Amino acid sequence: MKLYQSPASPYARKVRICAHELGLNDRIALALTMPQTDDAFGKVNPIHRIPALELEDGMVLYDSRVICEYLDSIAGNKLFPASGVARFMALKQQALADGLLDAAVPRRQETLRPAEKQSADFLKSRERMMRQVTDALEGMVEQLSGVSIGTIAVACALGYLDFRFPGDEWRKSHPKLTEWFKAWETRPSFVGTPPT
Ligand code: BEZ
Repeated sequence: MKLYQSPASPYARKVRICAHELGLNDRIALALTMPQTDDAFGKVNPIHRIPALELEDGMVLYDSRVICEYLDSIAGNKLFPASGVARFMALKQQALADGLLDAAVPRRQETLRPAEKQSADFLKSRERMMRQVTDALEGMVEQLSGVSIGTIAVACALGYLDFRFPGDEWRKSHPKLTEWFKAWETRPSFVGTPPT
């Protein structure tokens, strides 16, 4: 299988952590992809987003949620609880964590524009959204148990905050989440997939 990705993408990191946790690393080749500038990538994924996973039969899967669930399905269903409250709790945690990234990544992109073109309102609103998500996670930390697609997604999102927004100092106002994250910071699948 071929994973189109970039080492800075937190969505791709989520996929790489899942692959690591599922013992699938050996079956996945990483292809460095710059979706904005690589026109040919549009033939792989018409929405020009990474990650995308090309299977051995040529079928291409996207987005990260679909890819993670696919990998789990071929490795014995370890990360996506099959049904009931556990399943929807994990899916909700993934939605929250991905939502955090959906605010953080455009905020990061905005900061790369020339200073005079940046929108202070946009930056503020994205920062506020991010804060609301981390506050929500702080309030539900007892539910973040074990290794599931939910907890993997939350760890990835917090890792992205450390990577791109160290100045936010999210740990200062989220003591329970800080404590929870410590176990992830030493977990091999997390340590082995640092953003660069
Ligand atoms: C980043 O550099 O922060 C980034 C790269 C790819 C996807 C999302 C974020």
